[in-house]
Amino acid sequence: MSKGALAIGAMLALAALVWWLAPARLPETWSEQEAALIASLSLATLSELPADPSNAVADDERAARLGQRLFFDRRLSTNGAISCASCHRPELSFSDGLPVAVGTGVGERHTPSLIGIAFSPWLYWDGRRDSQWAQALAPMETHFEQGAGRTAVVRLLASEQQYRSAYEEIFAALPAADRLPAAASPLGNAVERENWRSLDPELRAAVNRAFANAGKALAAYQRKLLPGRSRFDDYADAVARDRAVLPQEDWLSRDEIAGLGVFIGTGQCINCHNGPLFSNHDFHNTGILPASGQMPSMGRYDGISLARQDPFNCLGEFSDAEPGQCMELRFANDGSELAGAHKTPGLRTASRTAPYMHAGQIATLAEVMQHYNEAPVAMLGHNEAKPLGLAPRQLRQLEAFLGSLEAPVATAQQWLAAP
Ligand code: HEC
Ligand code: HEC
Repeated sequence: MSKGALAIGAMLALAALVWWLAPARLPETWSEQEAALIASLSLATLSELPADPSNAVADDERAARLGQRLFFDRRLSTNGAISCASCHRPELSFSDGLPVAVGTGVGERHTPSLIGIAFSPWLYWDGRRDSQWAQALAPMETHFEQGAGRTAVVRLLASEQQYRSAYEEIFAALPAADRLPAAASPLGNAVERENWRSLDPELRAAVNRAFANAGKALAAYQRKLLPGRSRFDDYADAVARDRAVLPQEDWLSRDEIAGLGVFIGTGQCINCHNGPLFSNHDFHNTGILPASGQMPSMGRYDGISLARQDPFNCLGEFSDAEPGQCMELRFANDGSELAGAHKTPGLRTASRTAPYMHAGQIATLAEVMQHYNEAPVAMLGHNEAKPLGLAPRQLRQLEAFLGSLEAPVATAQQWLAAP
């Protein structure tokens, strides 16, 4: 190689190094439109808890306390070892740090955080439940989660004095525990299904009612789990007051601010991760490959039909809502474009809830950024996101920005452990 070529090579390498190390260049002020976008992400814009007309006890403190006990009670599982909190661990933002959940068996989905869950009109990655209380019933009957089964849940409520009096104070009389078989459920194994079929129809209806009420108490509890203010929120509120406030570093570092610029700008993240919880609560296909050994997930395409079939949905007999209050369910979209679409997760806890995506397919935030930058072709349906062509430094800045959302929960300590 000639000396000239060597010198040019060395200069290029030096230029690349300078570019790599140089502090991010920031504009002096956000544009009016940028400032409005930033302000729209602040927790200051979070609305009151949305009402849940399908759950008459959603805001009843007594129901929340009953729900809290149930949430941490391991007896609601076949092996006596798994509670909701085994997978939704308070110290991990109510997630579990695993790629896919492990309960009484191994599941296929990643455990999402529950912070701010009451704001989500649809539950689960595929939105197959339309209320928090309908969702809460499922793990108690899913054999690889807790699997206790319907009568076992109601038997526990009816047989333990503390549960029984708390329940009856809020709802109505429970059936006598000794009338209930230990294991009966329409969703269990062959024996449990047979036990369920042979149950007296009136008792079966009473069990369904009490089971639904247990879900409503669990929902009331989870409405307490709310996000706290982060450094980003202080910054966003300052920008809302004065958009020239930008190049200060009191709240965010230069890299975090630059990452915010990418998030609301060329990265287009804000198209889906918007509002104070960084989620539009809608379903999108972002080309996430299935976890190894799994079939590609149909996502919301299956989810909406499962939500419609669920006997515990907003229009069902256990709901406290008038049919006119079930707009989400009645008018939900169910087109084929929903194949492979999953719920947009909020990002406020993202820096602490690795791994990522519906089956924990992506291990680190750095790899998530890489995924969006490349926007691979989806195996099922089509990827709505387009390749971004961001520089490695911008990807790191995006990641740094997500770190600035970290904050403790805004929930009183008394709710964060078993009562
Ligand atoms: C074995 C671990 C495990 C247990 C036990 C468990 N969960 Fe979950 N939870 C998960 C997983 C995994 C998902 C996502 C599943 C899916 O989307 O298909 C989930 C989803 C949820 C969601 C929906 C979150 C969202 O963003 O849509 C809520 C709410 C929830 N669980 C509450 C509960 C409650 C209440 C209990 C106890 C009755 C419970 N979970 C028990 C693992 C668990
Ligand atoms: C088209 C809508 C859309 C866009 C644009 C989008 N996301 Fe997402 N994001 C989603 C959906 C949907 C998921 C869940 C996908 C899945 O699990 O299959 C997700 C998942 C994530 C996760 C994982 C969160 C978790 O708890 O598992 C992170 C982090 C994330 N997105 C960050 C970003 C960033 C940063 C950008 C911009 C570069 C971005 N997203 C752009 C819809 C979008």
